[in-house]
Amino acid sequence: MREALEKIRSDALAAIAGARETSELEALRVRYSGKKGELTAILKMMGKLSAEERPKMGQLANEVRAALEDAFQSRAKELADRAMEQKLRAETIDVTVPAPEAPVGHLHPLTIVTREIRSIFEAMGFETVEGPEVETDYYNFEALNTPKNHPARDVQDTLYFSDSMLLRTQTSSVQARTMENRRPPIRIIAPGRVYRSDAVDATHSPLFHQIEGLLVDEGVTMADLKGALGVFAKGLFGEQTAVRFRPHHFPFTEPSAEMDVSCFACGGKGCRFCKGEGWIEILGCGMVHPNVLRGCGIDPEKYSGFAFGMGVERVALLRYKIDDMRLLYENDVRFLEQF
Ligand code: PHE
Repeated sequence: MREALEKIRSDALAAIAGARETSELEALRVRYSGKKGELTAILKMMGKLSAEERPKMGQLANEVRAALEDAFQSRAKELADRAMEQKLRAETIDVTVPAPEAPVGHLHPLTIVTREIRSIFEAMGFETVEGPEVETDYYNFEALNTPKNHPARDVQDTLYFSDSMLLRTQTSSVQARTMENRRPPIRIIAPGRVYRSDAVDATHSPLFHQIEGLLVDEGVTMADLKGALGVFAKGLFGEQTAVRFRPHHFPFTEPSAEMDVSCFACGGKGCRFCKGEGWIEILGCGMVHPNVLRGCGIDPEKYSGFAFGMGVERVALLRYKIDDMRLLYENDVRFLEQF
């Protein structure tokens, strides 16, 4: 029996040490220590031994059982550890691999220009206000001294919803709304979209952007207009920029003018950019017409004001030397990434 026990011990320990998988180990456990296992069979025979032999064999059998139990346990742990290690190795994330760069967006040139113009006027105390794009005929035309059948309406090809509702053709509509709601002193600029029934080409779009400006107070004169717009031109195009005013006509201002800035490409000498003129037209402006003030409930005897309006696309095209307005609307990232 001693030999049988020793043989079981050495066979089993060798087999356990060589087990490659948990299932293999489990089969060995059944084979040696299971209910019908080899060691169990020997233990069952203990009863037949003599009283002298029994304690010795009992002790040895216990030793063997304990040795197998230890071996099963430590091998099971080894196999489990190895499995875990393999799993972790397979799932390793290399944190030193450079991550793909997330694309960063760019501000649209129209946004950049609008913000710059806004900040120049905000520094002079102008507040930014907005008005609706779907507008009444009244605020877009009537209140701006432009009654039905006025020839100035033909210049702005209007998109109408009905006799009285339209898509605003100019941000000047915000002038009338503001003067109705506020008392002087008023200093506002109004950026926003405007619409005209124009076909798309390099210089036209049925949707474009304007920035309107309005200042109303006691004793405001044309000199104030020239001063404020001069500061604006230098702020936007550089200190060396000169401005000039040419007489013009708008129904809601009197007198009216168009303002040119000295060409920022050639400094005024004349180049391809300013078409040899040395000057570039930038905006329309004038002193608010007394009829407009009166219509909005402001006494033209006491108050006067100036207004101006400019196209944002035009400024952006000049500023960035872009030769086709359509580029501003196509949202081609290869174009937009340049700003
Ligand atoms: N609204 C005019 C236009 O669209 C511009 C303008 C605004 C002129 C304010 C004078 C005063 O052409």
